[in-house]
This record gives sequence, C-alpha cells and structure tokens, in this order.
Amino acid sequence: MPILVTGGAGFIGSHTCVELLNSNYEIIILDNFSNSNIESLNRLKELTGKNFEVYDVDLLDKENVDNIFKENHIEAVIHFAGLKAVGESVEKPNYYYQNNVTGTLVLTEMMQKYNVYNLVFSSSATVYGIPKAVPISEDFPLIATNPYGRTKLMIEKILRDLNVSNKDWSIASLRYFNPIGAHESGLIGEDPKGIPNNLMPYITQVATGKLPELSVFGNDYSTPDGTGVRDYIHVVDLAKGHIKALEKVLSTNGVESYNLGTGQGYSVLELVDAFEKASGQKIPYKIAPRRPGDIAECYADPSKAERELDWKSEKSLEEMCLDSWRWQERNPDGYLSKTVEIK
Ligand code: NAD
Ligand code: UD1
Repeated sequence: MPILVTGGAGFIGSHTCVELLNSNYEIIILDNFSNSNIESLNRLKELTGKNFEVYDVDLLDKENVDNIFKENHIEAVIHFAGLKAVGESVEKPNYYYQNNVTGTLVLTEMMQKYNVYNLVFSSSATVYGIPKAVPISEDFPLIATNPYGRTKLMIEKILRDLNVSNKDWSIASLRYFNPIGAHESGLIGEDPKGIPNNLMPYITQVATGKLPELSVFGNDYSTPDGTGVRDYIHVVDLAKGHIKALEKVLSTNGVESYNLGTGQGYSVLELVDAFEKASGQKIPYKIAPRRPGDIAECYADPSKAERELDWKSEKSLEEMCLDSWRWQERNPDGYLSKTVEIK
C-alpha cells in the first residue's frame, strides 16, 4: 500500500521521497508546485531509478484530494505541504492560515473518510517561540510569535484533538531545526524563489557570485561571537528521521512530537567559516542590524527521537556545507539550470 507524500516536490519532501523509494516504499506525491518545480521529480526518478504517481493538486481542492484517496489504498500520509516564509506570513496571514491550516483540515477529513489514520506531520522548532533555555526539549512551553509559527502550533493542537476523538489516529509531529545540505548526488536541493531568506542558500548564492555579500544580522547577541546560534541539520539526516517516524506510526497509536536536530549549535560566523573551508570559496560579509523576530540561540535536545524513534543525525557540518555547495555549483539557477558537470 502506498504512502501519500504531500509537498513531495519541495526541499525536504523530495529528499524524504529518495529515502522512501530506497527503502522500497511505494509513494504517491501530491503537490500544487506553488513553491517547487516538477523538475525535482524528474531528478528523483533519475536518482532512484523508480517511478511513482504524481498528482498536481492543491490541498484546498477537496474534490480532487478525495479522488486521490478513492483511487488509491493509502496506508499513511507524510504531510509536508505548506507555506513557510515567516515574513510573508506576517504580510499575508489569511493566505497562510488558509493554506496551512485549512489544507491540513481537508487532508485529515479525507483521511478519516477513507480510514487512513497514520500521519507524519512537518512541524517546526518555531513552535518554541523564544525558548527559556537551550537545549530545547519537547516539553518546553509552546508559543508561536508569527502567523507561520501559529499555523504549525494550531495544526499540532488539531492533530492532538483528532487523537482524542478517535484513538485509531497515529501521529508524529516532527519539529525540525534548521535543515541545510542537499543529496550528495547534487541532483536535488533547496531552490528558493527570489532572494533567499535563510542563511545557507544566501551563502551559496554569494559563493556563486549571484549575490554580492552576506549581511550578518547582528553581532551583539549573548552568544560566544555575538552572532545567532542555530542547530543546522543535514536534510538527508532529516529525511531518514521521517522513515523512522513512519515506522513508528505504522506500528503504534497515539500522538507524539519529536525534535529533529543535531543537538549542536553553530553561530553565523562559524557556518560561514565552515562553508569557506569546505568549498574553497570566500564569502564576503558585513555586519547588519538584527533581523526583527530573530532569537539569539536555538538548538535541540534530540534525545527523545533517539530513544523512541531510534534516530539520530550523523552528518557533520562539513558534509552539510560540501553538499549545499555541490548542489548550488551544479545548479546555479536551481531546477531551471541545466545541470553543470563538475570535474
Ligand atoms: P518547500 O516549500 O520546499 O516544500 C513545500 C511543498 O509544499 C512545495 O513543493 C509546495 O509547492 C507544496 N505546497 C504548498 N502548499 C500546498 C498546497 N496547498 N497544496 C499542495 N501542495 C502545496 O518547503 P520545505 O522546506 O520542503 O518544507 C516542508 C515542510 O516543512 C513545510 O511544511 C515547512 O513549513 C516545514 N518546515 C520547513 C523548515 C525549513 O527550514 N525548510 C523548517 C521547519 C519546518
Ligand atoms: C527561519 C525562520 C523560522 C523557520 C526557519 C526555516 C525567522 C525569524 N525564522 O529560522 O521560523 O522555521 O527559518 O525556514 O525567519 N542570518 C543572517 N543573514 C541572512 C540570513 C540569516 O545573518 O541573510 C542569520 C539569522 O539571523 C539567524 C541564522 O542566520 O541567526 C539562521 O537564519 P535562518 O536560516 O533564516 O533560520 P532561522 O532564523 O533560524
């Protein structure tokens, strides 16, 4: 029986599909390509040598989502589909609540209708708001500070209510820290539209010369070098965490949240330094004012995932930098590029 992957054409979804296919799961992808390119799925086929069904469907389109469940005996859903830009969510809250929250309500309604109760959901470390301490464990207070974060928090709460209403539900909410890196083939990776908001894609575009320099947002935080500290995790490690979470939801009932991070924080300047060493490229930067809404330090206590999912991250910061760079160098214009062969 297939696994339905919503948002499977996106950054984390495509990497998870590689791991699913390599573990011999049958998959079906639902995506409306609002923030992705069908080319990622062509690359996925090339990379794995496997085929799968793709539905170009919006989660808000109830009739077509219903048809997917009608046509397929779905065993479980991994739900990545969602909008994720914090700044945009402040400007367009309605769009974010509709897309993320209503989209999830349509999905779970169809799951109930067709008796599919196994779900892995993409949450985020953003649900911890400004954490009271680090490392952050799952029992910390949950307070979102922007509409994007609130959609994640609301969905987590809705999923808990579903489990209260019907104990057949088996749900894992995965709270990702900062995914970076790319598949080591250089065939798939992160492909942000326009100027990147996040640090690693910004750095790789400075490295190719597409952007002139990096702005480091603040060097007066109470961290060792004054710049923000985050828990960067290789996207392939993150993808493997989904396979473990899927195995768990398929074998138990209940609802649980798990941090997926490395447990190790690195500052902006440490990441820049690691990237320069791994890529051999110089990253010019300037110190700029703090970005509104940023926190000083954020890194996970990932021990619950290790204990209960038998998962922990394996890849080093150097591998994250090397793989991010390989992807960017081979695909200077993301999926619109003709892949460049690197000697
Ligand atoms: P992404 O934008 O690359 O992938 C999301 C995919 O969902 C895209 O392919 C997009 O086209 C699709 N999508 C969006 N709305 C849809 C809809 N209504 N119907 C059908 N498809 C739709 O993002 P990503 O980085 O792969 O993130 C995946 C999930 O993980 C998101 O829910 C995101 O909020 C969450 N997350 C991401 C990060 C991160 O740093 N990348 C961190 C924490 C949580
Ligand atoms: C951001 C989001 C978070 C979301 C995550 C993944 C905000 C406030 N938070 O997290 O909700 O889950 O992305 O999509 O947007 N930095 C620079 N220069 C840059 C870009 C970033 O110095 O050009 C710094 C930031 O200040 C931060 C660190 O780099 O200290 C990481 O930033 P980023 O990659 O945007 O991730 P988060 O802010 O952790």
